[in-house]
Order: sequence, then C-alpha cells, then structure tokens
Amino acid sequence: MRIHTVAQPHALADAAAGLVATLVRAAPHARIGLPTGETPLETYAALARRVASGTLDLSRATGYAIDEFAGATHAAPGTNAAFYARHITFPLAALHCPDNAAPDPGAEIAAFAMQLTSAGRLDLCLLGIGVNGHIAFNEPGAAVDSRARVVALAPSSRQAHASAFGGIARVPSRAMTLGIADLLESRTLVVLAHGPAKANIVRAALNGPETPELPASWLRRHPDITWLLDEAAASALTVP
Ligand code: PGA
Repeated sequence: MRIHTVAQPHALADAAAGLVATLVRAAPHARIGLPTGETPLETYAALARRVASGTLDLSRATGYAIDEFAGATHAAPGTNAAFYARHITFPLAALHCPDNAAPDPGAEIAAFAMQLTSAGRLDLCLLGIGVNGHIAFNEPGAAVDSRARVVALAPSSRQAHASAFGGIARVPSRAMTLGIADLLESRTLVVLAHGPAKANIVRAALNGPETPELPASWLRRHPDITWLLDEAAASALTVP
C-alpha cells in the first residue's frame, strides 16, 4: 500500500492523471474504473487537458462505471450517466455504465458485471471514499466478498447527491454497484480523497480495523493500491 500526500487538491489530480497516463502508455486498451462525485472532478479535468494538449491518448481505453443509481430516469440530472456526459469530455473507446432506468436493476448490474468479467478485469480503478466509508455504493455492512448487486443507499449518500437531483426526494433510494470483491479484482486501485471532511474516514479506513461497517477498510487487502490524499484528508492519520 502506498500513501501519497500532496499539499493541494490540484496536485492530487495531477498525480492521479499521471498514474492513468503511465498505465495507458503501456497498455493503450486499458480498462479503467471511473468514479463519480466531487472527488474525481479535477482528475477528469487534468486528463482532459492532457488529451487536449496531445500528451495523452485515451481513445483506445475503455471506461467502466463502478456504480449507478437504480430506478431513475434517463433525464434525471444526478445519475452517473449524466455525470459522465458532463465530465468525461475526452474520447474513450467506450464508457460502459449500467442503465439507471432498467426495469430489473438486479439483472442489469449482473449483466454489467458479466460484461466486465468477459472483457477481463479492470487494469486500474479510481475510487473516491464516501463520508460514511462507502466505496462505490458499497455502503456500511458490505462484506469483503460482496459482488455486484442492488443496494439500499445510506441517508448520507442520498444527501450527498440531493442537489444534483434537485432535492433529496428525487434521489433514488437504491443503486447498483460493483461489490468489494469485484473492486479488489482490479489490477491496481487508486483512492482519492481531499479536504478536511474526509480526514476521519480516511484515518478509520487506514488505521482502524477491517470491518464491514467501514467498507473502505477492505481495500487494505489489495496488493497494489495507492491512496492519493491532500494534507487535509491525511491530517488525522496516525500511521503514515
Ligand atoms: P464525493 O463522494 O467525491 O462527492 O465526496 C465520494 C464517494 O461517494 O465516493
């Protein structure tokens, strides 16, 4: 496990973009897991700048969602599909995301996971961490051997997406997510966290016990994981 602490969030985004660039130079057809939320925004902007300047070509790489809301509509502005449409502004060979309006979300996420398994595992998965320690939409209670499935969203997760959906009442109560075991199968994991609001959960994930109550704690079992933190997010760590 590597913990890389930088002074500013923009340096964190540059570091994350650099890891993606290194991967794709060696493996242009790489499969990359792409989180949503506020955390990866600067990373996606940094990737877009590299692509625009001609120093990075992601056009043969394939992006994969790691989660998506269930029981939404295609027009809802807060879905992960809508997020990708806004923030993944550079060309990829494909960007696969489960259908947020699928009538049977269980079958949808199972088919999505099967498609990923048939393609081969992820080469690199970027991850954010929720304030409650969730990873993708593996909410507290998620077992280390959990697989792709439909989950009930925690109140804090629905709250985090309230403004994007135009109010908490419009945030779906369920989501589809890759499981902890699916995420641990990625060849490389890169967890991003910035800001003081993430300090306690980062400390618990890295310094506390491995427990389903803190799904991010399972990530410590991964043999090739980098935590990219700004100083604020790293400020509560007791073991560097
Ligand atoms: P955030 O969410 O990036 O909006 O803080 C992180 C997450 O839920 O994974």
